[in-house]
Amino acid sequence: MTKKYNVGIIGYGWAATAHIAAINATTQGRVAGVWSSRPLDSSELSAKHGGTIKAYRELDAMLADPDIHVVDVTSYPSQHRDQAVAAAKAKKHVILEKPMANTPDEVRDIVAAAEANGVKGCVCFECRYSNQFQVTKALLDEGLLGKLHYGEVDYYHGIGPWYGQYRWNTGKKDGGSALLTAGCHALDALLMLMGNDVASVTSLSTKSASDIFQPYEYDTSSVTILHFKNGAIGKTAAIVDCLQPYYFHTHLVGSEGSLLDNKFHSMKLKADKGHWSELSMKMLDSGDVSDHPYQAQFQAFFDALDRGEDMPLTSFKEAKKTFDVIFAADTSAAHGGTPVRLG
Ligand SMILES: NC(=O)c1ccc[n+]([C@@H]2O[C@H](COP(=O)([O-])OP(=O)(O)OC[C@H]3O[C@@H](n4cnc5c(N)ncnc54)[C@H](O)[C@@H]3O)[C@@H](O)[C@H]2O)c1
Repeated sequence: MTKKYNVGIIGYGWAATAHIAAINATTQGRVAGVWSSRPLDSSELSAKHGGTIKAYRELDAMLADPDIHVVDVTSYPSQHRDQAVAAAKAKKHVILEKPMANTPDEVRDIVAAAEANGVKGCVCFECRYSNQFQVTKALLDEGLLGKLHYGEVDYYHGIGPWYGQYRWNTGKKDGGSALLTAGCHALDALLMLMGNDVASVTSLSTKSASDIFQPYEYDTSSVTILHFKNGAIGKTAAIVDCLQPYYFHTHLVGSEGSLLDNKFHSMKLKADKGHWSELSMKMLDSGDVSDHPYQAQFQAFFDALDRGEDMPLTSFKEAKKTFDVIFAADTSAAHGGTPVRLG
């Protein structure tokens, strides 16, 4: 069967390999090209991943190819802006790994280039498409917790030498901050659940005394307090220097009940408030990209392209709101926790 969207991938690292399988598993998308700084062989790529994949020697050649409709940027964060802008100028729709980029100006350039060239974007905040957060959101939409006045979503994942990303993550240029490099998933989930109308943020940061994390050029633990425009408050801890199992922690408190990870209590159900009720759902319990719900996200992106619309949940405009909060939080932390207001 011919597929409608041919995708050209920039970068051939860890994230890229998870993307290839996920894109090929969608109804309308297939990976047709890869450009990497390393020379790759078309027949080897095709044999490994299935279908026909062309290895481009030059990025410009892939961007100029009229048979490529979507470009997927999976390179180092410091390369995201230039590559995403070039793809948009070549009139390709863009899939972009997180972080969108590590500075507000770069993120603005990416969103502006997509808008100016009439192309759509998908940011890899795939956790929004996870079973855990889809079920949690459905529970909120059913009103089982009432009106939320407090929420915390935290990210605990020790990114040490045992984890591939460590190779480039320790540098400020590509790692950025505890929030930019990985905690962004937790802050983004908090905004998905509580709404992204944030009035101000206050953030503090520090780093572990362990030798393991000393190569990091930036603080690898931060905690951010959010004040929402509707009066609610929230918190995200971004901890990439912990020594413990991966843990994506969620605690929501509302006028009708609470949710703690996969447990909840709702006054509406008249269950025993002294005990949690349990939700059966697949939890986000691993940093392994092969476990991440990319396929559901890419399927939603291609479906939205079919309709000529921005995708739900993770469009450029929606993701930019999360990065606006992250940049404000990092500014606050750089000034010792001075509150920073958002527009
Ligand atoms: N959404 C998520 O949950 C998630 C998970 C992992 C990574 N990411 C993001 O994906 C992007 C890439 O991360 P990654 O973990 O795939 O990094 P990676 O180090 O595996 O690959 C990054 C870049 O390095 C290149 N590269 C890798 N090995 C190379 C080598 N030996 N020689 C030359 N170039 C080489 C790759 O082609 C790619 O361009 C980053 O923006 C990262 O934040 C996101």
